[in-house]
Amino acid sequence: MRILPIPPELDAAVQRVLASQELILGPEVAAFEHEIAAYLGTPHAIGVSNGTDALILALMALGIGPGDEVVTPAYSFFATPEAIVRCGARPVFVDIDPATMQMDIDQALARIGPRTRAFCVVHLFGRCCPVRPLRAAAPQLPVIEDAAQAIGAELDGVRAGALGQVGCFSFFPSKNLGCLGDGGLVTTADATLATQVRALRVHGQAEGRRHEHTLIGGNFRLDALQAAVLRVKLRHLDHWTARRSANAARYRKLFAAAAPQVLLPAATAPGARDVHNQFVIRVAHDRDALREHLAARGIGTGLYYPRPLHLQPALAHLGHRAGDFPHAERAAATSLALPVFPELPAAALEEVVAEIAAPPPAAGGRPGGDRAKRPLPSAPLENNSINWALRRPPGKAQRRRNTVAGAASSPAGWIDGQMDELFPSGSSTPPGPAPGSERHSRP
Ligand SMILES: Cc1ncc(COP(=O)(O)O)c(C=O)c1O
Repeated sequence: MRILPIPPELDAAVQRVLASQELILGPEVAAFEHEIAAYLGTPHAIGVSNGTDALILALMALGIGPGDEVVTPAYSFFATPEAIVRCGARPVFVDIDPATMQMDIDQALARIGPRTRAFCVVHLFGRCCPVRPLRAAAPQLPVIEDAAQAIGAELDGVRAGALGQVGCFSFFPSKNLGCLGDGGLVTTADATLATQVRALRVHGQAEGRRHEHTLIGGNFRLDALQAAVLRVKLRHLDHWTARRSANAARYRKLFAAAAPQVLLPAATAPGARDVHNQFVIRVAHDRDALREHLAARGIGTGLYYPRPLHLQPALAHLGHRAGDFPHAERAAATSLALPVFPELPAAALEEVVAEIAAPPPAAGGRPGGDRAKRPLPSAPLENNSINWALRRPPGKAQRRRNTVAGAASSPAGWIDGQMDELFPSGSSTPPGPAPGSERHSRP
């Protein structure tokens, strides 16, 4: 289902760039920067090569390098700590709040040491990490926002990217605002930082001074075709976001009725705007078996993220071990992202919830019982990564696992035992509902 006639608009934009022959930076990128700065409510927006480079540029512009520490969550996409390490600095990990899955702010403040140079917060899954308490308690430390998943998300009327000193966005195709390749953005209210980022983007060349390199930067340029595509899609972003929000609200209603024990994303703070890049539930038992079961029914899901950052092999030099950040580890083992893309019809949401609420198939039984397999529609405009999974039917080996593992090891239901598993005794979070969380008790 197409919700807007975008392809002709995209076509016109691409033709315009081809006719102009200005393929890198140039007026198209400048116009996009102007338009997205207005959308985000930030004085400066600089189009760059991708979201990872946006993070690297933010760190470079702040002068962060060897010997410095940056406090950041243990649960995010790998690019967040990777950028810190690429700049020669050390990521200092902090656990997440298990209810919101955002960085635990109290722990972040407790990790400030003599070498701390910044916070790099992540607005995970399209909702804002509460930046204000960090800025209030440690005003000397800049806050870099990894807003790759949170374009248009808001806290107290301020949009992600304008909450800290520097905002970093990705336009990877799976993002709410995705281009047709790689793209990214750096935002800031600080004119000096903006000038610095603009210079670093083009090999440290000061604006208007060709062949004079005052800094060691790199090639971090955004190309004009991507900017032209993004300009078209930006005009539709709020409509798509509204559709995502409607889908998320519908999931909440359906789960409350059919599977009230399921742990849903915590309700956002009053006045916050959640843009639902992902809709992540927690599955205490056999998350992977449930995922395979859903795949066999034509329902694609995503894992964000199956391994917490402190246990990534490339970060072994940081000396962490299993157990260091228990909430991040539980999240890695239990989170499951459901399709939430704008084109998803109401019937598809009902089917997803019904499949999750139904008891797992009996041992040896056909996964999904007798109901006919009805694949969900793909989203041709948004390219959501979860949709990609929908287009790839499970292979033979996976289908075999569905009939055995899912059935044998989950006698009580996919989602039973949620509370105990997610908030084990001895964890820092009491078993009662955490503030702002939306946990339903068993009927
Ligand atoms: C939280 C987060 N940070 C950074 C990135 C990196 O963005 P990119 O893929 O554009 O380099 C992503 C992209 O997936 C992300 O989700």
